[in-house]
Amino acid sequence: MVTVNELDLPELDLEGLDRETALTALTAAAERHWLVRTPLGYGVVRHEDSTALLRDRRFHSAFSMIAEINGVESSEYMAKRRDSILAMEGPPHQRLRRLVAGAFTPRAADRLRPFIREVINGLVDQVESAGRCDLVADVCEPYPIPIICELLGAPKEDWKLFSRWATDIFRVFNNDLEADLPFIQAASAELDAYIGELIEQRRSSPSDDLLSDLISAEEAGDRLSHEELVMMAEAVLMAGTDTTRNQLACSIALLVTHPDQWSLLADRPELAPRAVEETMRYLGAVRGTLRFAAEDVEYRDVVFPKGTLVSVALAAANRDRDAFPDPDRLDITRESKSPQLTFGSGVHFCLGASLARAELQEALPVLVSRMPGARLDGSIEWKPDTFGIWGPSRLPLAWNPPGPAGGPSAGRSNQVRGATPGR
Ligand code: HEM
Repeated sequence: MVTVNELDLPELDLEGLDRETALTALTAAAERHWLVRTPLGYGVVRHEDSTALLRDRRFHSAFSMIAEINGVESSEYMAKRRDSILAMEGPPHQRLRRLVAGAFTPRAADRLRPFIREVINGLVDQVESAGRCDLVADVCEPYPIPIICELLGAPKEDWKLFSRWATDIFRVFNNDLEADLPFIQAASAELDAYIGELIEQRRSSPSDDLLSDLISAEEAGDRLSHEELVMMAEAVLMAGTDTTRNQLACSIALLVTHPDQWSLLADRPELAPRAVEETMRYLGAVRGTLRFAAEDVEYRDVVFPKGTLVSVALAAANRDRDAFPDPDRLDITRESKSPQLTFGSGVHFCLGASLARAELQEALPVLVSRMPGARLDGSIEWKPDTFGIWGPSRLPLAWNPPGPAGGPSAGRSNQVRGATPGR
């Protein structure tokens, strides 16, 4: 048995490297060892160890530490992050997941599919005839917010408020937390007050939405408190918007630069579920997450002393050749026994995965079919490489706009409006 700091490990510092170079460095390190040393601590880089570590309850989420690592000292802000479901562990986390599970099943997500199709088709309606757009600004950015509002049961006309709150709260990833903290806290307080009011309304008149489901969720007499309801609603808004919009942009960026795969999906929309898993594997919007050893942990004959930080390189695990043969080939017909890890694994596995899958499974076939012959109309610009959620900041596309009514493209778009891809 050795302690982790005694091991002779590949040293990796990804600071300043672009995504491709970072991924190459990670996968090269994975050939040499299952563990690497990083400036922050250690990192697991293979699929098997990433899954094992995320499922190991002795390693806890480091979500609340990310702000601390970035130098934030506000105790009010830190307390809020510690109360988030993403930071909770053990019995309190299990209790919360049990109470909310019923509201996040694939069936619950399926109920939203008609609305989701309406939203994506509405966005494409606004750009289709122009034959060009910036997919990020015109489609991906606005796409998830009305869906989250519908899910929560907030009135449609309020989606712009949610959009502003989400944008301000996401300043947390801007790498300038000291300057951004007042905006983040103001948005968070307004959102708290809004959700608090909505909860009171739903208590007196329940409706067919997530908040009403969460209010009535009960197990053996146990219910969510008012504070827990507010926290869950905010977690859903924060965890469910930027992730989905960036993943959609990543998936479309991949398909448009692999025209054979774009055409294949346009011809066979039933491949949408596999196209979602494969594009999430190949280019995930969440590329890593962080854990710390909550006690002295022995894993693979190595001791990780209590407090050791370990990052899980989801992006590298998703290109592990032992899990995915020919991992650098994008193939939307790929059938894999190993799951892609962009939704994480273990107790913190993405609670909104069914909804995110539904949103992507509905959006991809609509976009490939209503943007025939799509190609890049300039270069893709990418967000800065940070630990957070990542994707293109600009994705200029051009396609062959529809001909006169009844022409070939018009016919195809009508087909997809009503289609529900196989799941
Ligand atoms: C493509 C879109 C999405 C991606 C890539 C994604 C990714 C993830 C990942 C990797 C985690 C685990 C983090 C960790 O282990 O440290 C997570 C957790 C979570 N996600 Fe998602 N997510 C997406 C969409 C959504 C949506 C739409 C919702 C809500 C409707 C959502 C709600 C949550 C929540 C509440 C958690 C915390 C679960 C817990 O800690 O128990 N996510 N997500």
